[in-house]
Amino acid sequence: MRRLSVVSTVAAPASSPSTELVILRELLAREPGFMSGAALAKKLGLSRVAVWQHMEKLRAQGFAFEAARARGYRLAQRPTQHLKGRARDFSLTLLDEVDSTNDEAARQLAGGRPAPFVILARRQTRGRGRLGRAWHSEANGNLYASFAFRPALAPSGMPTFTLWMGVNVCELIANFCAIAPGIKWPNDLFFDGRKAGGMLTEARIDADQIRDLVFGLGLNLNSPAGAWPAELARRATSLAEQTAGPLDPNRFTAALIGRVLLAYTQFVEGDYRKTFADLWNRHDVLRGHPVAVLQAGRRFAGTAAGVDDAGSLLVRAPGGGRPLRFQAGEVTLEKSA
Ligand code: BTN
Repeated sequence: MRRLSVVSTVAAPASSPSTELVILRELLAREPGFMSGAALAKKLGLSRVAVWQHMEKLRAQGFAFEAARARGYRLAQRPTQHLKGRARDFSLTLLDEVDSTNDEAARQLAGGRPAPFVILARRQTRGRGRLGRAWHSEANGNLYASFAFRPALAPSGMPTFTLWMGVNVCELIANFCAIAPGIKWPNDLFFDGRKAGGMLTEARIDADQIRDLVFGLGLNLNSPAGAWPAELARRATSLAEQTAGPLDPNRFTAALIGRVLLAYTQFVEGDYRKTFADLWNRHDVLRGHPVAVLQAGRRFAGTAAGVDDAGSLLVRAPGGGRPLRFQAGEVTLEKSA
């Protein structure tokens, strides 16, 4: 694992979108102290004017800096100023590279780090998806995030937890980007049949209680259409592709953290029940469509009919009767007859 502070020995190219992140990281690392403009310029391999221009960009995003003669700059407001309410107390680690943010979050939970916190990385070397699959995790402007919690919940709540988080991420994307994402049970975020994101919730369980839980989210924010490896080129998309413009990762991430924290609280307090079904139905891409579910080597075909309170997928068999319930499985959309 490389922490961002190590990468700072490598000068970021002048046009790199990560230059602002490097500035924030350097200033954060010195809080409450100052860092001179000359030291920042040297660290970034840029002129002082160029550093100032990048700080202007950060100011335009809402960051504030205090400047003191002969001492330099420090953050007057932390980057989490984008966050509202309880999200300000959230602790955040930004890594340049890590094996998997889920694994790093699990290690830190096991090491006793107080929760909640979030691990973000620019790149993962062993990003993981559901069912043991790899998650393509290049440093291509996409989001790799894992939120760590210690909820007092029964393990049976986990499937619904992921679905609830999924619809909240959909709502956030819809509000932030003015586009309409879909969710495919249980963990895929879609646009027009192409995958833009995936979720991976993992927990350590003690007896019948969750000891700790990691909610991992991979979201394709800014990767351009031509950047995918051949096997993903026809199946993957990014929010930037859908909105025809780049997304500000700082603002999006701050909004995401706020939304996830609120959603988490609503879940553990049970408030989510008031809106879950409506939100699921709003974003569900399967409902009413013919699907096939592969489970333990068996294939079941029918029509998707939403989810139940336990987060199971409901599928109506062609012959009618009560819908089948699937707690796990791989579901595919079939062609309509
Ligand atoms: C899936 O669609 O199968 C789930 C993909 C989840 C990927 C995210 S990226 C951040 C976090 N770290 C990981 O190793 N996986 C999740």
